[in-house]
Amino acid sequence: MLQTQKKQKFNFSLMKKTILIKSLIASFAIGLFGVDNSNDFISNDKNKSILLKPVSNLNDKQYDKFILGRSFFAIPWVEAPSATTARDGLGPLFNANTCISCHPSNGKGTLLIDNKSSRSLVVRLSIDSNNSIEHKMLLEKKSFIPEPNYGAQLALNAIHGIDFEGKVKIDFDELNVVFPDGEKQILLKPKYSLENLNYGPLFNGTNISYRIAPSLNGIGLIELISNEDILKNVDINDKNNDGISGRANWVYSNITKKQELGKYTWKASVAFLKEQIAGAASNDMGLTTTIFPDENCTSSQKACNEAPKPKDDIDLTDERLDAITYYLKHIKTYSAKQTKEYTEALEIFEQISCAKCHISSFETKEGFKISPFSDFLLHDMGEELSDGRTEFSANKNEWRTAPLWGLSLHEKINKEKPRLLHDGRARNFQEAILWHGGEAQKSKENYMNLPKEQREKLIKFLEEL
Ligand code: HEC
Ligand code: HEC
Repeated sequence: MLQTQKKQKFNFSLMKKTILIKSLIASFAIGLFGVDNSNDFISNDKNKSILLKPVSNLNDKQYDKFILGRSFFAIPWVEAPSATTARDGLGPLFNANTCISCHPSNGKGTLLIDNKSSRSLVVRLSIDSNNSIEHKMLLEKKSFIPEPNYGAQLALNAIHGIDFEGKVKIDFDELNVVFPDGEKQILLKPKYSLENLNYGPLFNGTNISYRIAPSLNGIGLIELISNEDILKNVDINDKNNDGISGRANWVYSNITKKQELGKYTWKASVAFLKEQIAGAASNDMGLTTTIFPDENCTSSQKACNEAPKPKDDIDLTDERLDAITYYLKHIKTYSAKQTKEYTEALEIFEQISCAKCHISSFETKEGFKISPFSDFLLHDMGEELSDGRTEFSANKNEWRTAPLWGLSLHEKINKEKPRLLHDGRARNFQEAILWHGGEAQKSKENYMNLPKEQREKLIKFLEEL
């Protein structure tokens, strides 16, 4: 008995050694030839905490940085001054006190909680330029003029002693769509009202844009796609005559102080992940950074301006901002397994031109393939999806092709179907397709004309992405 146990143990450690040698050889080969290392970054494991996991092969020092970044991302910030924590400086005005309040488990936000608008829906405010020098400068650097009393975003929360700015109420109008084969689908068109506006009425003619928090799946891999590869698909004048143009959003970067290719947000109006994080810290949480050093109080918000200040000038120091950026660049990416059903449905997806915008394959600078299902370019999606707001080159009808990877995780994380499109109006994938207009009108019609059985195959495929 004892002997067999010993023998088994011996065999086991021999096995471990062989595996170790094999993996050493494998990693040597990868180092030498740049062989596919996508498995380090990407997983097919549809698990509700997959986006919280680090990429494989971080060394101890890298893992420490990952954990540090995660803490600033996930642990609640508190109002200043606080003697007990390095995480003070929240607000004075803010929408949520952690990043994960709006990006649960690093996935996408929910639209409604108990039938009320959730904090994951942010409200962007802007007004027309009066052509003053001040407005011209704002247009150049920010691309929009913030509402004078409320600023760029409606704050649903504030620290003690300060009034929050307002709340959102959403109602819906029903629209009926009938397919050529008689199938019916009801679409919900949102109707918003802003309530409890504590700083008086909005400036006359204020533009209001509603945006739901997108999933952060694959967020670090986007920066691994070269600009050249994205710009290859630009077709401003629709030279190939397919009705789909695709434009780059050239945006001002507060990091490089020049025009850069925008890749992040629903309108691709931010160039770098780090800049997007600094923007989120400022707009969504009231945390200052060296990139956006001002508190988000407007000059007429007296109590906000006089609120107690934290000890340090900058709430999210460069070291902490870098740590969050490092964290988001090193979380695992989910990508669907390429099964037989996947390949068959992908063919339909390509046939009906979905893949012209939702590009299914890019090669990263590191040489491995990814499937974000986006071209990261702007497309005119028609009047129905317009938010009336311009952000750099993106005009009111234009949106960045929404990446589709990882949307299926939402149900795992939140036990409900994801609400789709920039304002979360679509309750399912079919509704999302039916809202497509403008450059995607033809593709939508192709979908509506598919036999029912093929439509179902396609929807199932989208639900698995
Ligand atoms: C109040 C809700 C809210 C909070 C809190 C929040 N976000 Fe977001 N996040 C959003 C919304 C909404 C967008 C889309 C913005 C847009 O399109 O203009 C977004 C977009 C992003 C994006 C770009 C995603 C893409 O696909 O381009 C990143 C990255 C991001 N947030 C990171 C963060 C980080 C890091 C924090 C914490 C410092 C944070 N967010 C806090 C709501 C939030
Ligand atoms: C002309 C480019 C274009 C074509 C063609 C196109 N889409 Fe889209 N798609 C977009 C853009 C841009 C958005 C974001 C629109 C918005 O949020 O208002 C989007 C959003 C979506 C969304 C919602 C994703 C999310 O995160 O909420 C789904 C699902 C989708 N598209 C599926 C499809 C399918 C299926 C087809 C083919 C029938 C298709 N699209 C064709 C550009 C396109």
